[in-house]
Formats: sequence, structure tokens, C-alpha cells
Amino acid sequence: PALFGPERRNSRGWDLAHAPDLAMIEAARAPHRATRFEAAPLIAGSTAPDAAAPVLNPADPADIVGHVRPASAADVETALATARPWTAPPAERAAILRRAADLYEDHFGAIFALLAREAGKCLPDAVGELREAVDFLRYYAAQAETLDAPPRGLFACISPWNFPLAIFTGQISAALATGNAVLAKPAEQTPLIAHYAVRLLHAAGVPRDALQLLPGDGETVGARLTSDARVNGVAFTGATETARIIARAMADHMAPGTPLIAETGGLNAMVVDSTALPEQAVRDVIASAFQSAGQRCSALRCLYVQQDIADAFLTMLTGAMAELRLGDPWDLSTDIGPLIEAAALRDFSAHIARARAETRVLWQAPAPGTGHFLSPTLIRVPGIAALDREIFGPVLHVATFRAEDLDAVIDAINATGYGLTFGLHSRIDDRVQHAAERLAVGNLYVNRNQIGAVVGSQPFGGEGLSGTGPKAGGPSYLPRFTARPAPKIAG
Ligand code: NAD
Ligand code: ALA
Repeated sequence: PALFGPERRNSRGWDLAHAPDLAMIEAARAPHRATRFEAAPLIAGSTAPDAAAPVLNPADPADIVGHVRPASAADVETALATARPWTAPPAERAAILRRAADLYEDHFGAIFALLAREAGKCLPDAVGELREAVDFLRYYAAQAETLDAPPRGLFACISPWNFPLAIFTGQISAALATGNAVLAKPAEQTPLIAHYAVRLLHAAGVPRDALQLLPGDGETVGARLTSDARVNGVAFTGATETARIIARAMADHMAPGTPLIAETGGLNAMVVDSTALPEQAVRDVIASAFQSAGQRCSALRCLYVQQDIADAFLTMLTGAMAELRLGDPWDLSTDIGPLIEAAALRDFSAHIARARAETRVLWQAPAPGTGHFLSPTLIRVPGIAALDREIFGPVLHVATFRAEDLDAVIDAINATGYGLTFGLHSRIDDRVQHAAERLAVGNLYVNRNQIGAVVGSQPFGGEGLSGTGPKAGGPSYLPRFTARPAPKIAG
């Protein structure tokens, strides 16, 4: 049990194959199809936010999902000055976080609507995300009851748009469960759901001076938080380059040894050898590369197929890609929603155009006209070394390999410096064992897809350029938020 952390149950979630569950979801989210949500600083003092800006639906820029009033410099200062650690006993903090988990589940209609309209999430992804957020709350609440360690003081929690509820909640619930004060800075693209979540946490009983919300830009609000000596720790999830900027700011302004827990990007690979079950491998490649429009840090970016089966396998794969439906994530028939913003669409389209000029595009279907849609694309590459950065969208690169070159493939994957997820489809046990021993990755998945780590069962996090650890949703994570870190536990 120590390997998996505290005893508790994961969220039951919603079964989309079960008609009554689906009808319940449809009824609960329908009233929020046109709601205008609001986000503003939630601080323990009077606020003076900057002017409101609209937040647009990435699938339909004519849909105004709501308005955000970003935190001003004065708001950040007020929040820093008024932040207070959460001094309630651990059992009381845990009870309040569990109450927040219940409130999250009760408000599934608005949350699924926000995840679709603000973050472009299809319903299965939205269900997975709400479950993960609830699981983080209950997991860290349960673990905090058994940890006998003082808080560090004040944590800045800085989160990305691609899991605007789950990662946002995971960071802050870990810091709060251990008694820290939190200043939460959500991603620019997804302030509305963050605001909604913090209001639920306050309603559950988290004190307003222990949890404050500061929406705004990374370069202004984020930079202020990560260069202030009153901050005693930073939990960050986002791009590797941003983590470097934050580490430099912290080194310049904070006490030596102030922890930075950074979960960053990946150049994730999967190997499919000639013993793999092709139908299953194709299904798992599709999920790994294209679910959530490829906008997961865990997503598959470079697929290696053994040469002997490559032609047949790629024919099956492109056939499956042709079946994927792009469109409004609100519609139940949609498999792939939009990219989060126009800049990403321009950037990845340029990447694809270069590959097309070199006749390396093996497959791409047309995309819908409005919204930031990019159709799933398959690009031939000689190997993972040809990828010089993470393309954070539904673009899969594919290479072939010969069985005798498997070690060279593993070396090339390790040589990227990233080490987040890896997938292996093989029915040769020795090969699986060998790859597991040689690959420097955080999460290795065998004969399944490589996304969707489950809190408590699959602690999630990377090595090298992919993150500092400890892994989120595992037993080593919480102690890092305390002033007396426990020895590292495997997992
Ligand atoms: P990002 O780095 O652009 O932004 C993340 C957060 O950092 C945002 O809140 C942003 O406002 C803030 N930020 C930006 N500049 C800052 C600065 N100078 N100082 C302080 N804060 C700053 O990343 P993103 O585009 O939101 O997210 C996508 C990236 O996140 C991808 O690289 C993805 O792989 C990574 N990611 C990693 C994990 C993981 O668990 N390893 C999970 C999800 C996403
Ligand atoms: N935890 C998320 C996943 O595993 C990022 O896909």
C-alpha cells in the first residue's frame, strides 16, 4: 500500500455508454450552452483588476464564453501581503478538501460546459478531467491526514490550459492539504474554469487568505510571483522553456533551496514491433496521438513501426485516421476538438507545410473552416532526432526500424533529453523488460495507450527535460510541499 499511497476510492465518474448517465449530463450542461462566465482576482483584500477581456470558444470564436479581469500589480501585492498558511488541523483540512471534491462532482453540468467551451474538450475528456481533479482532492486529503510535517508557508501554483481543472486543482490541493497558503495563477487561456473551481473550494470552507486566485499573463502576474522572496515554493506545469525562466527568476530572488516542482513537456515515442496485435496497436496509437487533439503532455509524437509490418500497419492507421470526426467538442459525435488558439494553428500548419514540401506528409484530412481546427496529420521522419521540439497538437511522426536496431531506437529516444511517456506494443516479454530497463522515462505503458494516468495507481511525471518530479498523484508528491520532505518512495 505504501507504493500507492493512502486508502481511498477514485471518483466513480460518469459512464457515457450508459444512457441515463448521458441524459443526466445533457440535461445538466444544456443551461450553460450560452452562459457568460466571469473570472477576476479572488483575493483577501480589495481588488483593482485590469480591464475585462472576452474569453472566446476555440471551436467558435463568435461564442463569448465569458470575461476575465486580470490581476493588476496592486492585486498581486495585496495577495502576497494577505496570504496566510492554513492552520486548521490536518483532519479538518482534509474534510474541507473532500467537501470540495463533492461540490466539484455536484457541479458537473457547468464544469463540462466550461471544459467544452473554454478549453475545447470533448465530453469523454471532460469526464476524465473532472474525475482526475476529484481524485487529486481526495488522494491528497487522505495522505495529508497521515503526514506529520509542517507547511513551507506560501506556494505559487502556476498551471497550463490543457488540464485547466485537473492540474490546476492537483497543484493547489497538494499545497493546501499540507497547510500552505496558495496563490494560484491559471493559464491565460482558461481563467473561467479556474475561477469557478476556486469559488467551489471557498464554498467548501477553504479560507480566502489561504487560497487566492490571480488570473493574468505569465510574463506579468506569473513573473511577479516567481520573483518574490515571500514565496516559499513554486508548483509549475507547462513548457520546459517556461520552467527554465522560472528557475532563473527563483534563483535570483528567492532563498536558496526554495523548491520548484516543475512538470514540463515531452517528445514521447511508441514502438510497435512485429509481434504486436495490429488492431489493438492502431487503436492505442489513435488515442495516444489524437485524443484531446494531441494537446496532452503525455501524447504520442513519434511512432516507430517495425519495417516488416510497416506497410500493412500504416494502411490500417490511415484508415482509422480517416474515420476521426473533427468538430465542436460539445457534439457527442466529435472525436477531435480544436487547438486552443490561432497561434498554435499557424505554428503547426507551418510545420506541416515544410513536411509537405519535402513530400513527407502521409495523411491529412480537411479541417472545418471556422475555429482553430487542425486535422490529424501523419508525417514520415527518419527518426525521433528529426523532431526539434514538441508539436503540441494532432500531428504524429512515424519512422520504421529493423528488429536488430531496437537499441539504437532506444538510444535516440533517450538522446532527446525528454523522458515523459513511452509506449511499447510487443508480445516478447524479454523485449519489454529490456526496454523498461534502458529507457529514461517517467511513465512506460505496455500494450495499451500512453495517456490518461490514474491518480493513486499511475503516479505521473517525467525525467530530464520533462520535469523535476516528484510524480503527481503518487505518494512522494505531498512531502515536497512540506518543510520536512520524506525520503523518496519508488513510483
Ligand atoms: P506555458 O509554459 O506557456 O504556460 C504555463 C503557465 O506558465 C501559464 O499559466 C503561463 O501563464 C505561465 N507562465 C508563462 N510564462 C511565465 C513566466 N515568465 N513566469 C511565470 N509563469 C509563466 O505552457 P502551456 O502552453 O500553458 O501548456 C502546454 C505545455 O505544458 C506543454 O509543453 C505540455 O507538454 C506541458 N504540460 C506538461 C504536463 C506534465 O505533467 N508534464 C502536463 C500538462 C502540460
Ligand atoms: N496525466 C495526463 C495524462 O496522463 C497528462 O495524459
